[in-house]
Amino acid sequence: MRLSLRFVLPLLLAIGLVAYAVQPLVDQLTLKWFVRDLDIRAQLIANTVQEPLVDLVHANARSKITALFNRIAEDERVYAIGFCDAQRRQFTGTRNFPASVGCDSLDRSDKGDGRLLASAKGPLHLALEPVHTDGALLGTLVVVHDMSFVTRRSEETKRYVFWFFAGLGALVSLITVVVAQLSWRGWVQGTKALLRGEGLLRPAARVAMPELQPLARDLRTLMHELETGYRSRDESQITWTPETLRAILRADLRGEEILVVSNREPYIHVRRDGRLEVQRPASGLVTALEPIMRACSGTWIAHGSGTADREVVDRHDRVGVPPDKPRYRIRRVWLSAEEEAGYYYGFSNEGLWPLCHIAHVRPIFRAEDWQRYVAVNRRFAKAVVAESRSANPIVLVQDYHLALLPKLVRDELPDATIITFWHIPWPNPEAFSILPWRQEVLAGLLGSSILGFHTRFHVNNFVDTVDRELEARVDRETFTVSYGGRSTAVKRYPISIEWPPAEAAHWPSIADCRAAVRARYAIAEGVAIGVGVDRMDYTKGILERFSAVERLMELEPQWLGRFTFVQICAPTRSRIEEYQAFEARVRALAEKINARFQRGPWSPIVLRVEHAEPPEVYEHFRAADVCFVSSLHDGMNLVAKEFVAARDDERGALILSQFTGAARELPEALVVNPYDTDQCAAAFHLALTMSTGEQRDRMHIMRGLVREFNVYRWAGRMLLDAATMRRRGRIAEPAGTTVVPLRREAP
Ligand code: F6P
Repeated sequence: MRLSLRFVLPLLLAIGLVAYAVQPLVDQLTLKWFVRDLDIRAQLIANTVQEPLVDLVHANARSKITALFNRIAEDERVYAIGFCDAQRRQFTGTRNFPASVGCDSLDRSDKGDGRLLASAKGPLHLALEPVHTDGALLGTLVVVHDMSFVTRRSEETKRYVFWFFAGLGALVSLITVVVAQLSWRGWVQGTKALLRGEGLLRPAARVAMPELQPLARDLRTLMHELETGYRSRDESQITWTPETLRAILRADLRGEEILVVSNREPYIHVRRDGRLEVQRPASGLVTALEPIMRACSGTWIAHGSGTADREVVDRHDRVGVPPDKPRYRIRRVWLSAEEEAGYYYGFSNEGLWPLCHIAHVRPIFRAEDWQRYVAVNRRFAKAVVAESRSANPIVLVQDYHLALLPKLVRDELPDATIITFWHIPWPNPEAFSILPWRQEVLAGLLGSSILGFHTRFHVNNFVDTVDRELEARVDRETFTVSYGGRSTAVKRYPISIEWPPAEAAHWPSIADCRAAVRARYAIAEGVAIGVGVDRMDYTKGILERFSAVERLMELEPQWLGRFTFVQICAPTRSRIEEYQAFEARVRALAEKINARFQRGPWSPIVLRVEHAEPPEVYEHFRAADVCFVSSLHDGMNLVAKEFVAARDDERGALILSQFTGAARELPEALVVNPYDTDQCAAAFHLALTMSTGEQRDRMHIMRGLVREFNVYRWAGRMLLDAATMRRRGRIAEPAGTTVVPLRREAP
């Protein structure tokens, strides 16, 4: 409407001005016409009275002449009439003949404007008609017409002109508004079509206006750049934020449907002492994907494992999360105790987990676990298909629990873009070859459009494994595997955390965190604090960490009574014997070391086996002088990155196992081999004696890296690759990608 007003107002103004200018012209014109009419009437009267007047003048019958004139003056337009003889001496006329008009003044009044006279009644028109007899001038007949009707008519004409222009203005405005609206709509649709790369409205227009295509391309690029806030297609130049991610979805994937599938759900509803509680699981996968889902919305399909999960879902098993301000939804998949035992505890965590981690725990493969694993993967695939609103959603499959899912989804939704991320290491082909169902697992994963690992090393291991196990074509130039008529891009996407962490806004000061942690564990002032936060998992190197603390006390006794290591272990997979045994070993070792070095209220190790929510975890990180991540083998390890993120004071030291993916990105940490106890003890000593300047230098670089290579970049890079893949697919589909050589027909 505002746009239309911009056209209409000037138009109305112009029409008003024209109307204003036209008014005097119309006045003049009508006056001219009326004067001409009156001249003709006067002539008519003169012709009519010629004969009787000549006779009466010859007869000098002046009273009869007056009577004749009075009769003529009965006409409402004729105001007065008179006659002057040829000498202009004698005058005969009606009574009301204007006194200002005398026979002697007739010469003057005979000229142009002089024929109009003003009177009390209004303007009068004077017409002089010569009267001849036998070729000689007898006198002049003076006919005076009342012109007051002209004024009335002029007023009337002005009214007509006004309404005419008003009507014209309204009509023109209406036409303008309608045409402007139609053209605007057409233009908008055309531009949208151009930006979508579809030409102007109709495909024919694309042919008709090929010259507009480069403009459309430029426009699209510009819009994309404006939306994403970057000026380059080089993703390394992008500042990665939730907004960037949303912009990618809008610009590159045009808001397409995103489905995440994982075993672990991001919010678990439990009943504790009759009260409904929401827990955030200790999971790197959840840490990474939750902020992505908050930024992109969509649906996260996961196992409903909480004791109160069923209470809060709707009739489609969905629940909006985060609970206080839902941004996306979880679709829960229910598993029976037997299914969970076989699929999760059995095949996933007693089979694949130790198979993929070099932690020297022997994998256990049971046929019945495998059957459950297959069945549950099918169940998840069904949920994906049911949740999908389109034929080609983007499905983000997470981790080793769902290795068969990509192929199962591909079978149902051939046009889906399936991005699978393997959060744990991939073993070398030799190690993998012990898996009885290795070909099924590989074929399942190769249903993906993109398959991601944290490190180049794991990408290589996977490609080597496929090369060895399957009849597949492996292109090592592009890292693409072609199998069963489809290809999968195998790529490296190092995972990370959100930056800044969501909790950062509510963090207490470093001093408050230190005070809180000291108070909680009765750690005296002056005693340095070490921290470790992990799931109670044998891959995390917790025993090795404790051994390093013990060795530190042996080699550097100055730390006796002056250093306490706080270890938080979230219970995990505790139904598995290996995990139970591991927990027992961890507890026993902590007790042994504490018993050996205990001095009064001081002990070297504080072991807390319980789940801690993110605010508490960050409180520990902020309180610590040193954090030790000693995984024996880890895909990435996000605890290391969380510790770095927590230290906005650029203090504290990070000791990091060389067997984590994180060690490749954070070489400024003190990188150690967790199996080398002396080296780890030395790292503790180095960390605890490190100058604040060195701490700042190291932390500063690490924080810069985690900030830049945050989780939005991790997801964004995968989504950008998916978008490119979808675009290529659209181009290749109609014609195919293989160019067939032309052949001359045989004569
Ligand atoms: O490391 C693989 C992984 O899936 C992580 O993403 C996560 O930290 C952990 O395992 C979760 O384990 P679970 O879901 O068995 O508790």
